[in-house]
Amino acid sequence: MTYADVYQSWKDDPEAFWMHAAEAIDWTQKPSKALFDENAPLYEWYVDGKVNTCWNAVDRHVEAGRGDQTAIIYDSPITHTKHEITYAELQTRVASLAGALRAKGVEKGDRVLIYMPMVPEALEAMLACARIGAVHSVVFGGFAANELAVRIDDAQPKCIIAASCGLEPGRVVHYKPLLDGAMEQSTHKVDFCVIFQREQEVAKLEEGRDFDWHGFQYGVDPAECVPVEGNHPAYILYTSGTTGAPKGVVRPTAGHLVALNWTMKNIYNVDPGDVFWAASDVGWVVGHSYICYAPLITGNTTIVFEGKPVGTPDAGTFWRVISEHKVKSFFTAPTAFRAVKREDPKGEFVKKYDLSCLEQVYLAGERADPDTIEWAQDQLGVPVIDHWWQTETGYAIAANPLGIEALPIKLGSPAVPMPGFDVQILDEAGHKMGPNELGAIAIKLPLPPGTLPTLWNAEERFKKSYLQQFPGYYETGDAGMIDEDGYLYIMARTDDVINVAGHRLSTGAMEEVLAAHPDVAECAVIGVTDQLKGQLPMGFLCLNSGSDKPHDEVVADVVKMVRGKIGPVAAFKLACVVDRLPKTRSGKILRGTMVKIADSEDFKMPATIDDPAILDEIRVALQKMGYAK
Ligand code: COA
Ligand code: AMP
Repeated sequence: MTYADVYQSWKDDPEAFWMHAAEAIDWTQKPSKALFDENAPLYEWYVDGKVNTCWNAVDRHVEAGRGDQTAIIYDSPITHTKHEITYAELQTRVASLAGALRAKGVEKGDRVLIYMPMVPEALEAMLACARIGAVHSVVFGGFAANELAVRIDDAQPKCIIAASCGLEPGRVVHYKPLLDGAMEQSTHKVDFCVIFQREQEVAKLEEGRDFDWHGFQYGVDPAECVPVEGNHPAYILYTSGTTGAPKGVVRPTAGHLVALNWTMKNIYNVDPGDVFWAASDVGWVVGHSYICYAPLITGNTTIVFEGKPVGTPDAGTFWRVISEHKVKSFFTAPTAFRAVKREDPKGEFVKKYDLSCLEQVYLAGERADPDTIEWAQDQLGVPVIDHWWQTETGYAIAANPLGIEALPIKLGSPAVPMPGFDVQILDEAGHKMGPNELGAIAIKLPLPPGTLPTLWNAEERFKKSYLQQFPGYYETGDAGMIDEDGYLYIMARTDDVINVAGHRLSTGAMEEVLAAHPDVAECAVIGVTDQLKGQLPMGFLCLNSGSDKPHDEVVADVVKMVRGKIGPVAAFKLACVVDRLPKTRSGKILRGTMVKIADSEDFKMPATIDDPAILDEIRVALQKMGYAK
């Protein structure tokens, strides 16, 4: 079958398509149908089925005789450690951890917050939750205590599972003090914490509240897999929206299993037993879907890599890991390749390794620039596939489905929509646009299985954020176009979300932090183009009249504040003081125009601008920072 056949077969009969895909999953009770549309425009899938994610990701492989196969390879150039965990070992470890959680009162539906670095125990914690039907919420290690506190208050977890520390090159990230700080700040109080002590830093445990990962499992009965309803939340993953309050994306259990399993062969072209590596972090959706769940559901070997593309120890790390562990499909972010390319443009490191195992490479998380794709293709001699997705969908909306058919690669395009996604380009009024016309990218409802059915505790926000603008569609927040061959092009965000090194961040959230500085009267944060990270946040500050604090001190303060409040991952280092911000006559800050000036692009003077002279002041400020050339 060709891609066109497969896509058409879904279009002709989505119900049959998704019921067929569901056959690859082990059900305790098979669902009577795929789509449940009684509450449209809210849709759910496989609601009356009963299923367990951990069973499908772990136990069933042991049962099928694959217990001795390696499930997880841990490779940490930062700690100089490597080890492997088989499916049988994983089953024992996860059942024990799940049993200990259960013994402390964690039950189906309870939330568990996970704050862990890239160690296999992070996956074990996720799977242990899935085993007993608890709903995990993993928080990325690069976020500060305040972001953790916000998530604790929203998810209201019964317990927190954390590591004593994370490790960044040359720096220990002290998780426990961050966690303690977050628990102090949050209104919601957890019953207990489980701390995985790492030898690089042993954390102080609070008697009665904090339990040691190993000690707390002593003598408990291992837990069996608890079947849950198809629409039971598998996890909540917070992602940036327009405001400082993150959105809690809910992942439904059954659709997640079915859809992820479908993608492994059809998109990533791997079979059970193959080694699959996504070099991301468990704190992001890529880590959830393609470090933890999808490879394990499929019976692949997955790699937990604790390192960076460069500097751990060099720009050959990726190639070393691929060659040593026989990776067949590799997934990373374009920014990671840009970092490698910058250090090793001629690919000297590539030549040092036998990469004959590698068949294809996938890029996502941000726009893949043609230069980077071409460089990677030249160096590696395999197809480099750009694909487009979001935390909300949990897997690719558009891709080149190599497992079905290798479509021609068009640089700058993440190729074509996957079955389940009817992607349309709409104008502001919601009318369909023609080929090569730029507009808002929307997906005709219902979204396919595994995508978000709602936001955690925020159904109205879900409707307002995604469903209201274009009735009958899901609004992606991205703008772009579709060409005459049906290839998609993702050009920009339509909201205040920026993408820094493949990390999704909210400029609105940063503005909230800046505005809290006592000398700041008004501010704006924009995303400017960066050669390495794609975008970088930049702040503009207007000070209170009468403020006599030196400007460089205010700038240093706000840089520190963003790092302290949001976290180092925000990479907020650029800011300047200006007298005024450019606005429309109705008072809206012209952030888009500021971005264009910063990036030295042509722009049309906004007809509604209040005072065009302010743009010159902004240009001067930008030039002092090395922008607006
Ligand atoms: N825990 C704590 N801090 C973290 C962190 C974590 N898990 N991840 C990143 N940080 C910190 C970094 O140490 C850095 O801090 P610094 O300001 O003290 O240097 C800051 O957050 C910014 O990190 P990062 O954006 O990773 O920049 P970098 O300069 O350290 O590295 C790249 C640049 C391109 C190598 C790196 O961004 C990278 O590997 N990107 C790939 C991202 C990716 O895979 N995204 C997943 C989407 S699929
Ligand atoms: P996240 O939810 O963190 O995965 O971020 C999703 C956003 O990242 C998308 O809405 C896009 O703006 C951007 N994005 C992800 N993948 C791509 C891609 N392949 N091309 C262009 N933008 C992308």
